[in-house]
Amino acid sequence: MDVVILAAGKGTRMRSALPKVLQPLAGQPMLTHVVGAARALDAGRVCVVVGHGGDVVRTRLAQPDLLWAVQEPQLGTGHAVAVALPQLCEAGQVMVLYGDVPLVGAETLRRLQAAAGSDGVALLTVTLDDPGGYGRIVRNAAGAVVRIVEEKDASAAERAVCEVNTGMLVAPAARLRDWLGRIGNDNAQGEYYLTDIVALAVADGVPLATVEPAAAWEVLGANSKAQLAALERALQQVRAAALMEAGVTLIDPARIDVRGQLVCGRDVEIDVNCVFEGAVELGDDVRIGAQCVLRDVRVGPGTRIAPFSHIEQAEIGPDCVIGPYARLRPGTALGEGVHVGNFVEVKNCRLGDGAKANHLTYLGDADVGRRVNVGAGTITCNYDGVNKHRTMIEDDAFIGSDTQLVAPVRVGRGATLAAGTTLTKDAPPGQLTVSRAKQITVPGWKRPERKQS
Ligand code: UD1
Ligand code: CA
Repeated sequence: MDVVILAAGKGTRMRSALPKVLQPLAGQPMLTHVVGAARALDAGRVCVVVGHGGDVVRTRLAQPDLLWAVQEPQLGTGHAVAVALPQLCEAGQVMVLYGDVPLVGAETLRRLQAAAGSDGVALLTVTLDDPGGYGRIVRNAAGAVVRIVEEKDASAAERAVCEVNTGMLVAPAARLRDWLGRIGNDNAQGEYYLTDIVALAVADGVPLATVEPAAAWEVLGANSKAQLAALERALQQVRAAALMEAGVTLIDPARIDVRGQLVCGRDVEIDVNCVFEGAVELGDDVRIGAQCVLRDVRVGPGTRIAPFSHIEQAEIGPDCVIGPYARLRPGTALGEGVHVGNFVEVKNCRLGDGAKANHLTYLGDADVGRRVNVGAGTITCNYDGVNKHRTMIEDDAFIGSDTQLVAPVRVGRGATLAAGTTLTKDAPPGQLTVSRAKQITVPGWKRPERKQS
């Protein structure tokens, strides 16, 4: 089965320079979700119909095996499918999806595919309390579908029908080609309606089935920012429910945002307002405090991440304590039992087992050994304005507070740097290195006094 995704509509109601189908849902363009649903079906060819501005969509999706068709001008949904047909197999089934209906589930689509069989038509329909705006499913006395009528063309009796067309359907490619060649645009909107193929299928005696989605939100579209936000909440609710089902403790399932893939071990606890992006993996017994943002991170078992931490492209070992207010940037790799405290920034650094940097520190481009203690206010001066240089700190070193390590530089095993050191040459192992002006006291010095007037 091939899939056509309709995405040529302008989406003016988004009031955005970004095409509608690229508007993000859970961090991904809406269209990416639809393409994902098609791929989950093991679809053959997948063709996206784009209109004006389609190049932006094409560049953003950039999946080499996607096919593209340009519909310009947009003469209706029937015309849109007709534009895609030359790209699809001549035989076999075709499924039509909408680029702005992103939450449709693969399970629902599988049932739609099954209902159509190898040569029938299947329509995805839904029954709504308020069917306003949708095409209505018109059935005969025996309950068989006879046609779809658009609201603007419907009689009062037809408008009273609550079963509506979601727009998604499956039909045989060869028949579609024939039917789309026969439909006209003599209707209220002057458009070529894809929905007009239904009456032709009935006339040709082609078997026609209808399927309802598992959940009503699956077939909701997003034409405005408000509708997009509603879909976002629906999706996040589903993801939160799945996490809890898998045993994750969410302090408030309404206050978590998963914008990629979050995989959790046993007894993971996540406090409120955390955002997970990309691929995040949390080991057993991991606890994430409130207001953390994690993107492409692996966290070892037993690690605790305190509130307001921001972590990106990092590998965190077991039993670490991170934050509050820690920033771990790309290339951070922490061993076991590492502590990274408040207002500490780490970038492109390895910290060995048991290393600690608890307060107000910048570690960039450094190798920090096991059990190293980095005092408050320590800075690796890794950048000379042109090049980045590495700092090596060997096992068991002790870095006094307010130290600057001017890279490239090495601190030997077990070395101690006195507080306030500006290290420009290697510090030998096992010894105390100090760089500071000698402290003096000026005898007899007096503070200036204000003259009495
Ligand atoms: C369409 C259906 C209607 C259904 C409704 C569900 C037709 C004639 N009507 O109505 O029965 O209840 O969807 O939302 O099919 N598009 C193109 N090219 C075009 C026109 C549309 O690619 O020339 C795309 C749009 O980008 C959108 C989808 O097709 O993704 C549906 O278009 P839209 O205008 O929203 O459909 P409606 O007319 O509301
Ligand atoms: Ca329309």
